[in-house]
Amino acid sequence: MSRPLTLAVPKGRVLKVLVPLLAKAGYDASSFLSDDRALVRTTACGRLEALLLKPDDVPTYVERGVASLGVVGRDVLDEKGSELFRVLDLRVGVCKLAVAAPVGFSAPRGGVLRVATKYPKLALAHYAKKGEQVDVVKLHGSVELGAVTSLADVIVDLVETGRTLVENGLEVIEEVSAVSSVVVANRAAWKVDSERLRAFVASLEAALAAEAEDSKQL
Ligand code: PRP
Repeated sequence: MSRPLTLAVPKGRVLKVLVPLLAKAGYDASSFLSDDRALVRTTACGRLEALLLKPDDVPTYVERGVASLGVVGRDVLDEKGSELFRVLDLRVGVCKLAVAAPVGFSAPRGGVLRVATKYPKLALAHYAKKGEQVDVVKLHGSVELGAVTSLADVIVDLVETGRTLVENGLEVIEEVSAVSSVVVANRAAWKVDSERLRAFVASLEAALAAEAEDSKQL
Protein backbone atom coordinates (compact mmCIF):
# COMPACT_ATOMS: atom_id res chain seq x y z
CA MET A 1 0.00 0.00 0.00
CA SER A 2 1.22 3.57 -0.70
CA ARG A 3 2.20 5.90 2.10
CA PRO A 4 -0.77 7.40 3.94
CA LEU A 5 -1.94 10.88 3.05
CA THR A 6 -0.66 13.23 5.76
CA LEU A 7 -3.01 15.79 7.25
CA ALA A 8 -1.97 18.53 9.68
CA VAL A 9 -4.82 19.00 12.14
CA PRO A 10 -5.41 21.17 15.21
CA LYS A 11 -5.85 19.42 18.55
CA GLY A 12 -9.01 20.33 20.41
CA ARG A 13 -12.52 21.43 19.50
CA VAL A 14 -12.15 21.30 15.71
CA LEU A 15 -10.70 17.80 15.79
CA LYS A 16 -13.78 16.60 17.68
CA VAL A 17 -16.05 17.71 14.85
CA LEU A 18 -13.62 16.72 12.11
CA VAL A 19 -13.56 13.05 13.15
CA PRO A 20 -17.33 12.48 12.62
CA LEU A 21 -17.03 14.29 9.27
CA LEU A 22 -14.18 11.95 8.27
CA ALA A 23 -16.37 9.00 9.32
CA LYS A 24 -19.06 10.24 6.92
CA ALA A 25 -16.37 10.53 4.25
CA GLY A 26 -15.49 6.85 4.77
CA TYR A 27 -12.53 7.09 7.17
CA ASP A 28 -12.60 5.60 10.65
CA ALA A 29 -10.48 8.26 12.35
CA SER A 30 -11.51 7.48 15.93
CA SER A 31 -7.81 6.99 16.79
CA PHE A 32 -7.36 10.77 16.27
CA LEU A 33 -9.36 11.27 19.46
CA SER A 34 -7.97 8.45 21.56
CA ASP A 35 -6.66 9.49 24.92
CA ASP A 36 -2.93 8.96 24.51
CA ARG A 37 0.11 11.11 23.86
CA ALA A 38 0.97 9.92 20.34
CA LEU A 39 1.19 12.94 18.05
CA VAL A 40 0.90 10.97 14.81
CA ARG A 41 -2.34 9.03 14.43
CA THR A 42 -3.40 6.73 11.59
CA THR A 43 -6.91 5.87 10.46
CA ALA A 44 -8.15 2.27 10.72
CA CYS A 45 -7.69 1.79 6.94
CA GLY A 46 -4.12 3.13 7.02
CA ARG A 47 -4.81 5.58 4.17
CA LEU A 48 -4.73 8.75 6.28
CA GLU A 49 -2.43 9.94 9.02
CA ALA A 50 -2.87 13.02 11.17
CA LEU A 51 -0.21 15.20 12.77
CA LEU A 52 -1.77 16.62 15.95
CA LEU A 53 -0.67 20.23 16.25
CA LYS A 54 -1.33 23.56 17.90
CA PRO A 55 -3.54 25.45 15.42
CA ASP A 56 -0.86 28.09 14.75
CA ASP A 57 1.57 25.41 13.57
CA VAL A 58 -0.74 23.80 10.99
CA PRO A 59 0.18 26.25 8.16
CA THR A 60 3.90 25.68 8.78
CA TYR A 61 3.66 21.90 8.29
CA VAL A 62 1.63 22.35 5.10
CA GLU A 63 3.81 25.15 3.69
CA ARG A 64 6.90 23.01 4.20
CA GLY A 65 5.25 20.00 2.58
CA VAL A 66 5.50 17.76 5.64
CA ALA A 67 1.71 17.47 5.40
CA SER A 68 0.00 17.60 2.00
CA LEU A 69 -3.19 18.99 3.49
CA GLY A 70 -4.16 20.78 6.67
CA VAL A 71 -7.24 21.86 8.54
CA VAL A 72 -7.00 25.33 10.00
CA GLY A 73 -9.12 28.33 10.93
CA ARG A 74 -9.36 31.37 8.67
CA ASP A 75 -8.33 33.42 11.72
CA VAL A 76 -4.94 31.68 11.88
CA LEU A 77 -4.35 31.97 8.11
CA ASP A 78 -5.35 35.64 8.03
CA GLU A 79 -3.25 36.58 11.05
CA LYS A 80 -0.21 34.87 9.50
CA GLY A 81 -0.93 36.39 6.08
CA SER A 82 -0.66 32.82 4.81
CA GLU A 83 -1.02 32.32 1.08
CA LEU A 84 -1.73 28.62 1.35
CA PHE A 85 -4.23 27.31 -1.19
CA ARG A 86 -7.66 27.16 0.54
CA VAL A 87 -9.31 24.14 -1.01
CA LEU A 88 -12.55 23.66 0.92
CA ASP A 89 -14.54 25.40 3.64
CA LEU A 90 -15.46 22.68 6.13
CA ARG A 91 -18.17 24.75 7.87
CA VAL A 92 -16.80 23.50 11.20
CA GLY A 93 -15.24 25.65 13.89
CA VAL A 94 -17.71 28.33 12.86
CA CYS A 95 -17.39 31.45 14.99
CA LYS A 96 -16.59 35.12 14.60
CA LEU A 97 -13.72 37.42 15.36
CA ALA A 98 -15.17 40.31 17.33
CA VAL A 99 -14.35 43.29 19.48
CA ALA A 100 -15.76 42.86 22.98
CA ALA A 101 -15.82 45.10 26.02
CA PRO A 102 -17.27 45.22 29.53
CA VAL A 103 -21.06 45.61 29.39
CA GLY A 104 -21.90 49.33 29.18
CA PHE A 105 -18.39 50.26 28.04
CA SER A 106 -17.76 53.62 26.40
CA ALA A 107 -14.47 54.39 24.66
CA PRO A 108 -12.05 56.68 26.50
CA ARG A 109 -12.27 60.23 25.13
CA GLY A 110 -9.04 61.51 23.69
CA GLY A 111 -6.93 58.55 24.83
CA VAL A 112 -5.64 55.67 22.75
CA LEU A 113 -7.77 52.53 22.99
CA ARG A 114 -5.93 49.56 24.48
CA VAL A 115 -6.76 46.29 22.74
CA ALA A 116 -5.80 42.87 24.12
CA THR A 117 -5.73 40.07 21.55
CA LYS A 118 -4.14 36.92 20.17
CA TYR A 119 -4.51 38.56 16.74
CA PRO A 120 -2.39 41.75 16.71
CA LYS A 121 -2.25 42.05 12.91
CA LEU A 122 -5.99 41.56 12.44
CA ALA A 123 -6.78 43.93 15.32
CA LEU A 124 -4.49 46.64 13.92
CA ALA A 125 -5.96 46.17 10.44
CA HIS A 126 -9.50 46.44 11.82
CA TYR A 127 -8.81 49.75 13.56
CA ALA A 128 -6.64 51.06 10.70
CA LYS A 129 -9.66 50.67 8.40
CA LYS A 130 -11.57 52.93 10.75
CA GLY A 131 -8.66 55.38 10.85
CA GLU A 132 -8.03 54.71 14.54
CA GLN A 133 -4.68 54.19 16.18
CA VAL A 134 -4.73 51.67 19.02
CA ASP A 135 -2.33 50.19 21.53
CA VAL A 136 -2.34 46.43 20.95
CA VAL A 137 -1.37 44.08 23.77
CA LYS A 138 -0.55 40.58 22.51
CA LEU A 139 -1.84 37.70 24.64
CA HIS A 140 -1.74 33.93 24.11
CA GLY A 141 -4.96 32.86 25.81
CA SER A 142 -7.66 33.78 28.35
CA VAL A 143 -7.90 36.99 26.35
CA GLU A 144 -11.14 38.07 28.05
CA LEU A 145 -9.13 38.76 31.21
CA GLY A 146 -7.47 41.63 29.37
CA ALA A 147 -10.72 43.62 29.41
CA VAL A 148 -11.87 42.31 32.80
CA THR A 149 -8.71 43.65 34.42
CA SER A 150 -7.04 46.99 33.77
CA LEU A 151 -4.71 45.53 31.10
CA ALA A 152 -6.89 46.73 28.22
CA ASP A 153 -10.13 48.53 27.34
CA VAL A 154 -11.40 45.99 24.82
CA ILE A 155 -10.44 42.64 23.35
CA VAL A 156 -10.41 41.28 19.83
CA ASP A 157 -11.08 37.57 20.11
CA LEU A 158 -13.06 34.62 18.82
CA VAL A 159 -16.65 34.28 19.95
CA GLU A 160 -18.36 30.97 19.43
CA THR A 161 -21.25 30.44 21.87
CA GLY A 162 -20.64 33.78 23.61
CA ARG A 163 -20.53 32.02 26.96
CA THR A 164 -17.03 33.13 27.92
CA LEU A 165 -18.00 36.76 27.30
CA VAL A 166 -21.22 36.53 29.33
CA GLU A 167 -19.52 34.76 32.23
CA ASN A 168 -16.92 37.52 32.37
CA GLY A 169 -19.28 40.48 32.08
CA LEU A 170 -18.33 41.31 28.50
CA GLU A 171 -20.31 41.81 25.29
CA VAL A 172 -19.61 42.07 21.57
CA ILE A 173 -19.43 45.68 20.41
CA GLU A 174 -18.26 45.09 16.81
CA GLU A 175 -17.88 42.11 14.52
CA VAL A 176 -14.59 41.88 12.65
CA SER A 177 -14.91 38.77 10.46
CA ALA A 178 -16.54 35.38 10.08
CA VAL A 179 -14.31 32.40 10.92
CA SER A 180 -14.53 28.74 10.00
CA SER A 181 -12.07 25.93 9.41
CA VAL A 182 -10.83 25.29 5.91
CA VAL A 183 -8.78 22.59 4.21
CA VAL A 184 -5.50 23.99 2.91
CA ALA A 185 -3.15 22.28 0.49
CA ASN A 186 0.55 22.35 -0.17
CA ARG A 187 0.74 23.67 -3.73
CA ALA A 188 3.41 21.22 -4.91
CA ALA A 189 1.58 18.23 -3.42
CA TRP A 190 -1.66 19.43 -5.00
CA LYS A 191 0.05 19.07 -8.41
CA VAL A 192 2.19 15.98 -7.85
CA ASP A 193 -0.34 13.94 -5.87
CA SER A 194 -3.33 15.57 -7.52
CA GLU A 195 -5.56 12.53 -8.01
CA ARG A 196 -5.33 11.34 -4.42
CA LEU A 197 -5.71 14.78 -2.86
CA ARG A 198 -8.65 15.73 -5.06
CA ALA A 199 -10.36 12.41 -4.32
CA PHE A 200 -9.95 12.96 -0.58
CA VAL A 201 -11.30 16.52 -0.77
CA ALA A 202 -14.20 15.28 -2.92
CA SER A 203 -15.04 12.69 -0.24
CA LEU A 204 -15.14 15.50 2.35
CA GLU A 205 -17.37 17.57 0.07
CA ALA A 206 -19.74 14.61 -0.27
CA ALA A 207 -19.74 14.15 3.53
CA LEU A 208 -20.62 17.84 4.00
CA ALA A 209 -23.46 17.52 1.48
CA ALA A 210 -24.75 14.40 3.28
CA GLU A 211 -24.59 16.24 6.63
CA ALA A 212 -26.52 19.18 5.21
CA GLU A 213 -29.14 16.75 3.87
CA ASP A 214 -29.38 15.00 7.28
CA SER A 215 -29.87 18.27 9.12
CA LYS A 216 -32.66 19.29 6.68
CA GLN A 217 -34.53 16.14 7.64
CA LEU A 218 -34.33 16.84 11.39
C1 PRP B 1 -11.60 30.59 22.65
C2 PRP B 1 -11.68 32.09 22.48
C3 PRP B 1 -12.62 32.50 23.58
C4 PRP B 1 -13.56 31.32 23.69
C5 PRP B 1 -14.85 31.64 22.98
O1 PRP B 1 -10.70 30.32 23.67
O2 PRP B 1 -10.40 32.70 22.57
O3 PRP B 1 -11.92 32.68 24.80
O4 PRP B 1 -12.93 30.21 23.02
O5 PRP B 1 -15.76 30.58 23.06
P1 PRP B 1 -17.27 30.79 23.53
O6 PRP B 1 -17.80 31.97 22.80
O7 PRP B 1 -17.95 29.51 23.11
O8 PRP B 1 -17.27 30.97 25.02
P2 PRP B 1 -10.11 28.86 23.91
O9 PRP B 1 -11.15 27.98 24.51
O10 PRP B 1 -9.53 28.37 22.63
O11 PRP B 1 -9.01 29.09 25.01
P3 PRP B 1 -7.90 30.21 25.23
O12 PRP B 1 -8.52 31.16 26.21
O13 PRP B 1 -6.75 29.50 25.78
O14 PRP B 1 -7.60 30.91 23.92
